[in-house]
Amino acid sequence: MIVYLNDQFMPIEEARIPVLDRGFIFGDGVYEVIPVYSRRAFRLAEHLKRLQHSLDGIRLPNPHSDAEWTALVNELISRHAEEDQYLYLHITRGVARRDHAFPSPPVAPTVFIMSNPLLTPPAELLHSGVAAVSAPDNRWLRCDIKAIALLPNVLLRQMAVDAGAAETILIRNDEFMTEGAASNIFAVKNGELLAPPKDNFMLPGITYDVILELAAANGIPHGVRKVLASEVFSADELLLTSSTKEVLAITTLDGKPVGNGKPGAMFSKLYRLYQDYKRDVMRKAPSPGGEGWGEKNGHG
Ligand code: PDD
Repeated sequence: MIVYLNDQFMPIEEARIPVLDRGFIFGDGVYEVIPVYSRRAFRLAEHLKRLQHSLDGIRLPNPHSDAEWTALVNELISRHAEEDQYLYLHITRGVARRDHAFPSPPVAPTVFIMSNPLLTPPAELLHSGVAAVSAPDNRWLRCDIKAIALLPNVLLRQMAVDAGAAETILIRNDEFMTEGAASNIFAVKNGELLAPPKDNFMLPGITYDVILELAAANGIPHGVRKVLASEVFSADELLLTSSTKEVLAITTLDGKPVGNGKPGAMFSKLYRLYQDYKRDVMRKAPSPGGEGWGEKNGHG
């Protein structure tokens, strides 16, 4: 497996970072997860925009232009055999003597990208849906930043695993639903798809955008507004979205059935629309960017 680390492509076994990297010491960095369908990085421009938002949020200058990121991403995709991959892209504030404040003068950031095969949920899960549990959202107030400091998300997600469930639905202030520990969450009531607004309480999901666009384009009633905890616990359906899970039905919450306990009509419709969109648009879109990293750097 070939990865990219600080200007070089290398086998993952050879990729090393110093122990004083601020990602290791403080979790001081941001990341992106980008799905690749038929060797095309899906919505790369939107992922790079969200990356810029995360970097701005932690006051870390972007080490690359969008054109450079595009070339790097395409080069890494080309070095892997799979048609469908997911890219993990990670930037930290670099290596410096341990001090909470930013290194002064600044040091070079650490940039890491890897590719893994994209394994979408198996047919059984699509059929049965997944279990979820609920928990208070005890994270910070900048959940719109895709920070590598994921300890709260790790602990919240483990709660689901410990309960034999797939995801933890997060409730802020005992009042409204924000998202899942590693996904966005939609509720369905009386045929209307309800999505929490993109604010500081949730990660602005790229898959979330696709779902809302598909709902709008296909006349599916939908609303973007705060979703109350009470609405989550009385929902007819609950859906989960992410780049790697696509869209899944949540069929039990805290051990009780959601609606009739089976994936519902809204899930079936959106799942079908998502798969059609993947086949007709995602797999056929022009590859983002032009020349690869190799050509640009004389390695072509
Ligand atoms: N996580 N909310 C959180 C907290 C997430 O971690 C994710 C995705 C999402 C969905 O965003 P998107 O549709 O852009 O994947 C929402 C990725 C997959 C991860 O951390 O592995």
